[in-house]
Amino acid sequence: MILDERPKSRKEDLFDRDEELGLLLKAIRDGKPLILLTGIRRIGKTSVFQVALNEWGGSSVVLDCRKLKENYGRKDLYSLLSGALSRTEKIRDLLSKVQGVSVVGNYVELKWGGERYVSLADLFDHLNERKVIVAIDEAQKLRGPLSSEVKDAIAHAYDYDRNVTFLLTGSEVGLLREFLGVDDEGSPLFGRHYVEVELSRFTREKSEEMLRKGFAEVGAEEGGVGELVDAFDGIPGWLVFAGLRYVQGKPIEEVKDLASKLALNEMRGLSRREREVLKCIGKGRKGWKAMKECVEEMERSTVSTSVLDRALRNLEKMSLVRDYSFLDPVYEEASKRL
Ligand SMILES: Nc1ncnc2c1ncn2[C@@H]1O[C@H](COP(=O)(O)OP(=O)(O)OP(=O)(O)O)[C@@H](O)[C@H]1O
Ligand SMILES: [Mg+2]
Repeated sequence: MILDERPKSRKEDLFDRDEELGLLLKAIRDGKPLILLTGIRRIGKTSVFQVALNEWGGSSVVLDCRKLKENYGRKDLYSLLSGALSRTEKIRDLLSKVQGVSVVGNYVELKWGGERYVSLADLFDHLNERKVIVAIDEAQKLRGPLSSEVKDAIAHAYDYDRNVTFLLTGSEVGLLREFLGVDDEGSPLFGRHYVEVELSRFTREKSEEMLRKGFAEVGAEEGGVGELVDAFDGIPGWLVFAGLRYVQGKPIEEVKDLASKLALNEMRGLSRREREVLKCIGKGRKGWKAMKECVEEMERSTVSTSVLDRALRNLEKMSLVRDYSFLDPVYEEASKRL
């Protein structure tokens, strides 16, 4: 069913995306070592990622890094990994004899410190006995103190573990690239080739078709589809969010307001400078000079170029803006209330 707010995992619930699924499945079947699935928030990364893993049908270890705190430690990472390994029945037998790993019933315990702990590279080497995908959702969250350890292990598996494929997604695309550092000479993954599949927004026609199909599945009238697409563009997450509330009887204006509040809430975690830059972009200020003037006006103070530049770059890395424009109309609306 399309109008379901959880990420999809069955192909029959996923609207379109055949091309992207085909590319992902080909890369997986060809045994590519590193695959990136990128796209802005709510574009359908987790859904496409789950459907691809299901369609492939082999073993996969799925880590959701959204749960990691900014300065996560090895204990946090290993506990995430232990949960993921415990959910993957098909590989448990590979782990039972590994030093630092105990399989207790359905649960895989990992020693994360002390003398006989299991390193990530060791774990990947053992997984390599069978074809397996290590799928990491919101992988940019792996940045932080353990970043090098994780990248060293991925680089090791890239070189030696031919049966292991890493499939990484992230909504903060610039941060994901920065984490991997394939363009950064200091990174263990420098120069490594990877396959990238980007999810773009749906065209107007596709967006309308998706909503019409979703409405038909729940027996709702088609009215409102055009107006919803006007407000939410071709971002499937917003179309599902809004379509669902609309068929439940909420007026469009109210649905727009709810979406805007949600976006506003997500923007509250940004720094004061970043929020000011977003406000200025929301006011239509384009170009460096206009932006600087706007922020200075807001702060009633001169603002250092490097500080402002950093704020703007961070917002770009988080995939919120590009070329002084918002990538999502809902965030643009919400920026007026910041
Ligand atoms: N192609 C699609 N067909 C049907 N529903 C979709 C599709 N793409 C996304 N959705 C729906 O949109 C919402 C967001 O999807 P999903 O969580 O997969 O996106 P995401 O890119 O991982 O989002 P986030 O950046 O928040 O992690 C979910 O409700 C999901 O069911
Ligand atoms: Mg997701």
